[in-house]
Amino acid sequence: MKPINVGLLGIGTVGGGTFAVLKRNADEIARRAGREIRIVAVADKDIARARAVAGDDVRITDDAFAVVREPEIDIVVELIGGYTVAKDLVLAAIENGKHVVTANKALLAVHGNEIFAAARARDVMVAFEAAVAGGIPIIKALREGLSANRIQWAAGIINGTTNFILSEMRDKGLPFAAVLKEAQRLGYAEADPTFDIEGVDAAHKATIMSAIAFGIPMQFDKAHIEGITQLESIDIAYAEKLGYRIKLLGIVRRREQGVELRVHPTLIPAKKLLANVEGAMNAVVVQGDAVGTTLYYGKGAGAEPTASAVIADLVDITRLHTADPEHRVPHLAFQPDQMQDVPVLPIAETITSYYLRLRVADKPGVLADITRILADSDISIDALIQKEADEGEAQTDIIFLTHETVEKNADAAIARIEALETVHGKVTRLRLETL
Ligand code: HSE
Repeated sequence: MKPINVGLLGIGTVGGGTFAVLKRNADEIARRAGREIRIVAVADKDIARARAVAGDDVRITDDAFAVVREPEIDIVVELIGGYTVAKDLVLAAIENGKHVVTANKALLAVHGNEIFAAARARDVMVAFEAAVAGGIPIIKALREGLSANRIQWAAGIINGTTNFILSEMRDKGLPFAAVLKEAQRLGYAEADPTFDIEGVDAAHKATIMSAIAFGIPMQFDKAHIEGITQLESIDIAYAEKLGYRIKLLGIVRRREQGVELRVHPTLIPAKKLLANVEGAMNAVVVQGDAVGTTLYYGKGAGAEPTASAVIADLVDITRLHTADPEHRVPHLAFQPDQMQDVPVLPIAETITSYYLRLRVADKPGVLADITRILADSDISIDALIQKEADEGEAQTDIIFLTHETVEKNADAAIARIEALETVHGKVTRLRLETL
């Protein structure tokens, strides 16, 4: 059977990995796909680099728009990243009747609704396994493997850079900046690492997970996003003492009034598998009503792990591109006319538990005042530690873990606690999930 022809846009880390794996495993992949998958054209700004990776049998150009128009090409693989040129190229590829594979989580989280509508209008597939958690087939699991379930929630470590930073800071006591540099050197970090450390990359991925878990449109602009730049090592240490680890989690959860879509540092019990995901590894836990809890673990970044996901999409498209579009797997798991306009809940409506650290005067009645406010607010205390005041110090730290409450309720209680004369400065508040 004639090969399926692929045009590759961008031959950096993931593009290079895709090229290498397609070549190395060509026979095995063809046995699965039913025909050879062949990269026939590569577009990259750096022609010399592209030539060095792709060799002489592939057309190489710096004009990506020419590649998406080439009649011979069946599938365009977009590995450029970003929201601007990548968006124009993906829409142009679709307009030209090409199927698209992309690893671009930012593009899909922000412009996915428009891109999938365009793809439906032209009867082409847009596949994006590599966009969430790199080599872990979490899109396939959510979209197909768990399709019997009403998915209740998913929570994941979906940014390797921040997990690497948190692990190194905790294990080796290294400073934030040095660990970030190392993550960049190892190729985990985004071109703009603020996307990693401020939680934006994880929010892109969580947005995509929410859409396919619940059958709702992409609503990235409604996501609540907190990164790890404000996290203090003292809280990592107190959390350990209480039997918890702090991880940057992307959480999507179905509630009666809408869905929660949030990214923030989160305390999780140290004995949970997710708490023990170290370094740049990713992991996602999904809770379905029929299957219960399932866990997906693996490399979320890097050349060949991400290529593994890109090529899985190429195989899927190769198998399905001749099928009647009505009978293909829907882009976002649910049939397009069955998508629901469920709102993303504001963070004030989130229900979660809390870690609260307070700097207080070390004198009688302080604890009683604070616990009275928590009781008045109907916030139940789960655990509490008070650090012994240092020699000659009139202040000390008190740490509370609470049971679940609505965030606006916690906000109000924290404001009242901060107004107490015996409480110094701001209360440090972190969310806690027992998963
Ligand atoms: N910057 C991302 C991470 C790469 O650190 O996980 C994969 O999306």
